[in-house]
Amino acid sequence: MVYCARFLRKCPGVVNLIEVRNLTKVYGQHTAIDNISFTIDDGEIVGFLGPNGAGKTTTMNIMTGFIAATGGDVKISGVDIVAEPERAKANIGYLPDTPPVYGDMRISEYLNFVADIKKVRKGRKEAIEHVMKAVHIDGMSKRLIKNLSRGYKQRVGLAQAMLGDPKVIIMDEPTIGLDPKQIIDMREVIKNLSKKHTVILSSHILQEVSAVCDRVLIINRGKIVATGTPDSLSESLTKGAAQMQVRVKGQREQIQKALGEFSVIKDISMAAGLEQGTTDLLLRGEDSTDIREAIFRCMSKNNFPILLMKPNELTLEEIFLSLTDAAAQRGSVAGALPGGAAGLGAEPHLDEGRVSYDSDL
Ligand SMILES: Nc1ncnc2c1ncn2[C@@H]1O[C@H](COP(=O)(O)OP(=O)(O)OP(=O)(O)O)[C@@H](O)[C@H]1O
Ligand SMILES: [Mg+2]
Repeated sequence: MVYCARFLRKCPGVVNLIEVRNLTKVYGQHTAIDNISFTIDDGEIVGFLGPNGAGKTTTMNIMTGFIAATGGDVKISGVDIVAEPERAKANIGYLPDTPPVYGDMRISEYLNFVADIKKVRKGRKEAIEHVMKAVHIDGMSKRLIKNLSRGYKQRVGLAQAMLGDPKVIIMDEPTIGLDPKQIIDMREVIKNLSKKHTVILSSHILQEVSAVCDRVLIINRGKIVATGTPDSLSESLTKGAAQMQVRVKGQREQIQKALGEFSVIKDISMAAGLEQGTTDLLLRGEDSTDIREAIFRCMSKNNFPILLMKPNELTLEEIFLSLTDAAAQRGSVAGALPGGAAGLGAEPHLDEGRVSYDSDL
């Protein structure tokens, strides 16, 4: 599937599976989605990551034709969701944030009802058996939906999304409210889905997207603030900063004095090390200067043995907070941008697997 996506990208004239262009949604005075554009290729698992109120559900509701946009358009397999809703929706299975199930129906009744709506006629019995098996509810067809736990209702919701074998499955917070065991199980189900479908899911849980997604779109206040693989986002943000975590044998004051002679090294923080007689440092270079050699020279000249030196990589959580926290945008994180970009108000985008930033913003 990944090869398929790469192949599509390299073939001019082949449409993206999903194209979202200049999407805007305004509620009264409030702009929930602010002119966002992105494309998704066949076979990708993409995560929408963003804090509460970021606009994830609104974007998904527009993409699936649940609500209308104020501006912009969405194409699924080249078919416009507004101009040809039936044809476009045939390619989409949607699991909204609350599973759209009917409590008074038994699982089999409900899935037959959904199959009616989706006009699944040929091979219906097998199709229902297949989706029930895929979400691990086979053998439960006679259970009343209202008596199921939240996690199992969620599975029934996912089974209905899969019916009709749509190309794209869109899930809004698929693991919210599930216990840890069910979360792990659901992630497995989602990963399996991606073998046959393009999958889009939303979450404000960072581990979630990094555990299952190939690519992450970070949304904040209705805008896409970054896109990339979890790894490329981390790499890109740490590269510019050249932050190094260092543990040195020696006293803090003397080390500080020694560092003063090496202007290329900027000290960020210093604390007594976990090991006795050591000091832990967080150091960075100016702009994107590599300071590893300077650290070595400084410490060896002053006879401070280096016990540890490694790049201080940002976790996805730190990246998320950096990108979504307005204060961070104006402060330290701006300096962490590659190429000295002006700040995180700039909108990064993915170009051939690397994260880049629009410098004119
Ligand atoms: N029907 C509506 N009327 C008015 N404002 C709305 C409506 N639906 C959403 N909003 C607003 O649009 C913004 C985006 O909401 P949305 O539900 O898309 O966020 P979200 O990213 O899904 O958040 P969450 O993580 O809490 O689910 C919010 O400020 C929300 O209050
Ligand atoms: Mg939501």
